[in-house]
Amino acid sequence: MQITSFNQYEEDYKKSIENPEQFWGEVAQNFQWRKPWFKVLSWNFNEPDIKWFEGAKLNITENCLDRHLEKNGDKPAIIWEPNNPEEESVTLTYKMLHERVCRFANVLKRNGAKKGDRICIYMPMVPELAIAVLACARIGAVHSVIFGGFSAKSIADRINDSQCKLVITADGAYRGNKQIPLKDVIDDALIGCPTVEKCIVLTHVRTPVSMLKGRDVWWEDEVKHVNDICEAEEMDAEDMLFILYTSGSTGKPKGVVHTCGGYMVYAGYTFTNVFNYQPGEVYFCTADIGWITGHSYIVYGPLSQGATSVLFEGIPTYPNASRFWDIVEKHKVNTLYTAPTAIRSLMSFGEEPLQGKDLSSIRVLGSVGEPINEEAWHWFDEKIGHGKAPIVDTWWQTETGGIMISPIATVTPTKPSYATLPLPGIQPILVDENGKEIEGNGVSGNLCIKFPWPGMLRTTYGDHERCKQTYFSTYENLYFTGDGCLRDEDGYYRITGRVDDVLNVSGHRIGTAEVENAINMHAGVVESAVVGYPHDVKGQGIYAFVINPEMHGEAELTKKDILQTVTRVIGAIAKPDKILFVFGLPKTRSGKIMRRILRKIAEGDTANLGDTSTLLDPGVVEEIIAASKALK
Ligand code: PRX
Repeated sequence: MQITSFNQYEEDYKKSIENPEQFWGEVAQNFQWRKPWFKVLSWNFNEPDIKWFEGAKLNITENCLDRHLEKNGDKPAIIWEPNNPEEESVTLTYKMLHERVCRFANVLKRNGAKKGDRICIYMPMVPELAIAVLACARIGAVHSVIFGGFSAKSIADRINDSQCKLVITADGAYRGNKQIPLKDVIDDALIGCPTVEKCIVLTHVRTPVSMLKGRDVWWEDEVKHVNDICEAEEMDAEDMLFILYTSGSTGKPKGVVHTCGGYMVYAGYTFTNVFNYQPGEVYFCTADIGWITGHSYIVYGPLSQGATSVLFEGIPTYPNASRFWDIVEKHKVNTLYTAPTAIRSLMSFGEEPLQGKDLSSIRVLGSVGEPINEEAWHWFDEKIGHGKAPIVDTWWQTETGGIMISPIATVTPTKPSYATLPLPGIQPILVDENGKEIEGNGVSGNLCIKFPWPGMLRTTYGDHERCKQTYFSTYENLYFTGDGCLRDEDGYYRITGRVDDVLNVSGHRIGTAEVENAINMHAGVVESAVVGYPHDVKGQGIYAFVINPEMHGEAELTKKDILQTVTRVIGAIAKPDKILFVFGLPKTRSGKIMRRILRKIAEGDTANLGDTSTLLDPGVVEEIIAASKALK
């Protein structure tokens, strides 16, 4: 199923459009099924109701583990690189990983988990995180991984939304020179989570933690009570595999649901093709398993293809800005898949951290999560790839399950800042505000997808109507991505950014409404409005306009209180970069905030505010502009 020439890409693409069922049916033959499907695809975007590989039975862990044992059991599946470079890295072969997943799957069963139960995972980037994820899949439980940067309240909201029965966590996590008290955060969260019966705690940093009798058990103790034989649960292709919460333009994060069969096929197919993975190579994706990139391209995609996947606990700048390059040299990494934010941050350290580093193993480079600017693209190409490693700028989303528009390494001619062409099976379309297709090349519009693909979301947990409203109602019969996009003269796609009220801060998706709700929870705040603005490293920064709050001490202190409130309500990743206290917000006569104006002010582009005549009080704008100029 690996595409090796541009010609073949064109042929496969054509085939995938003309006869999608035959195309995906053939791709799916490369995976292991307990029972075949009777229908490859049935779909309806209005409901939405999408089924892939109907009737088929499988377990994704048999594809990620068992099927490699005979020939590749001793091959490294996961290479773990700890936060502290002085500590030993750990290699788990496919045999070892299989054994540990089975053992931990038995621990889950011993603690009352069964097929269909939801399990929340809040862990550091350690091998046990991948083991926990796979153990859930092994027994047919639905994992909901929450990124380690979210607060207790965010965790509680997510746990309650999907009524998780179990939580898997660790005492703490290392992040650079910081230690994060994961179990403390979970303890705070669980005060408001009546459905959680058990909490399994891994010892990692060995910080003191509270262990509640009857609820909390240690990972290390539990594994001693079980053996390592665990038959995989037989799953229907359309059974739920996992839930992953993501931000949208309304306040509450949505639980995006992915199912077993289609997701597996799509993650595996895109992994092997986009990165042109060759047997024996070492592949390093720097994302966290708390995000979709980690799910699809650290765990499921690579392991389903028998690849060797590096799992890194730390951050790119600890203990210094050479860390990525040291890891590349140490493990002879062939593919490095990272985010533009990391590239821009490392660029800012100049060339010194690269001195004497052997990056000659690198064959393919990848970028994900946000638009990559040309400067960062060229730096990545020249300094890291030495002009010889193709860069795959991969566009996709939590909802798409896998990469959608991207070069295929060594096959598709690349172009800086362009995600280039759709992968086989993907039918992008650009539409105007009214949903009218914008045809031809050299055009731009809102990016939609007009035909299903196996990795697409099936619903949003517990609220199918929300899935329909968010993705399938803006334009009839189309999946709406929320992204703006241009198609150049060559038919190449370039993603220009979100067209809704969603920010992309360091590749993290954050809804403006979510941040506003958090700010408004501060006791002194009455109203606020949040917009994004261009940020040199983060891509976008968060700019909050807050109507003069009741001050408690100096204004600067009140700002810090607001930041602390946001950290409590969402997590540190959503903290505004700038807060401006204002007398009023620019509102229309019907009371709607004109964000367009605030965005311009945040960008510092106050000369071109456009039409402000519909504002209730145009004078407000002058005041805000004056205040914004005084803000550092
Ligand atoms: O705006 C697009 C941006 O990230 C959004 C999806 O975020 P999330 O669901 O968190 O998934 C991130 C990792 C797949 C998209 O709607 N985005 C993602 N990749 C790119 C991108 N923008 C430009 N270029 C990309 N390669």
